[in-house]
Amino acid sequence: MLRTPVCGVLGIDVPIVQGPLGGPWRQSMELAAAVSDAGALGSVPTTLRTPAQVREDVARLRDLTDRPFAVNMTRRPFDPEIFDAVIALAPRVFSFALGEPGDLVARVHDAGAVFLQQVTTVEQALRAAEAGVDVISAQGTESGGFSGQVSTMALVPQVVDAVRPLPVLASGGVADGRGLAAALALGAQGVNIGTRFLASAECAIPDEWKADIVSAASQDAVKVQFVEHVLPGPTEGGYETVPRSLRTRFVEEWNSRPEAAAASAEALRNQMMTAMRDGTAYELIPLTGQTAGLIHDVAPAADLVHRLVAEAETALRDLAGLVRTTE
Ligand SMILES: Cc1cc2nc3c(=O)[nH]c(=O)nc-3n(C[C@H](O)[C@H](O)[C@H](O)COP(=O)(O)O)c2cc1C
Repeated sequence: MLRTPVCGVLGIDVPIVQGPLGGPWRQSMELAAAVSDAGALGSVPTTLRTPAQVREDVARLRDLTDRPFAVNMTRRPFDPEIFDAVIALAPRVFSFALGEPGDLVARVHDAGAVFLQQVTTVEQALRAAEAGVDVISAQGTESGGFSGQVSTMALVPQVVDAVRPLPVLASGGVADGRGLAAALALGAQGVNIGTRFLASAECAIPDEWKADIVSAASQDAVKVQFVEHVLPGPTEGGYETVPRSLRTRFVEEWNSRPEAAAASAEALRNQMMTAMRDGTAYELIPLTGQTAGLIHDVAPAADLVHRLVAEAETALRDLAGLVRTTE
């Protein structure tokens, strides 16, 4: 069994975190439950949820599994009422992204939870370590959802060096066991994975989106540069990030005409709001990472966890065989 010290910190058997997949699409707790039951860490997103929905989601997840899980928040935007609700629920892990952790760390620790902070630069990692977080997820630009400009391959070893001895997870660009083995070689103690779990049986996003992921190439997952004209920006302390999405007609049309997007900001916002209400926002901006090119099936989440571990073990054994002692 592949195990690293961060497994003890997060209360899991294998060093894999399923990143939260929040947004205006159906959320079900089956994905997080399946991941946690398989020995990895499932996540509950709170994006666009009310405090009552967050309480219901966590109660449902606790009905489905006794294993640890993370509840996630971000600074796009940050909602203090949701934070109070999450603290009262005392999850094993609180994960935070898209902004400075600041004084949230003390309240999370007082609630007995582990603070898992996602960063996109070395400077953010240093500030998060200074603020007292327990685990850092270094997220590269390959990732689905919001990310910075630096690639996972370049970011992870720098963050590992900068925050040692804090455990680091590699996030962005990992969808199979070779990626997990590579993350360990970079000095990370595990991985945080989003896009691969979108194309899982339990994920509640529409089947068309899953099929598009399976048929997409990596270059079909592009940065949505005009997002500032469509979605609300980060609240105070937010990181500068830009989302990555599969190409759609909407993404192509406005990415190629940034000035027209700025001039049409209100119309674009209205179009997005209507789509969010209709449940069709994924047709405009289906947040997805570059690992779409590595994904060839929709599989049960537990199978994905088992595959990741088995493939990583094989890759690590094969790599060890490359080293010969000189005689
Ligand atoms: C559809 C989608 C929704 C996401 N929602 C959130 C979220 O609500 N909170 C968050 O911290 N990260 C969110 N992320 C980021 C993922 O949790 C994860 O960090 C990222 O997808 C990892 O990169 P990968 O896609 O290359 O695996 C989202 C990603 C996707 C693809």
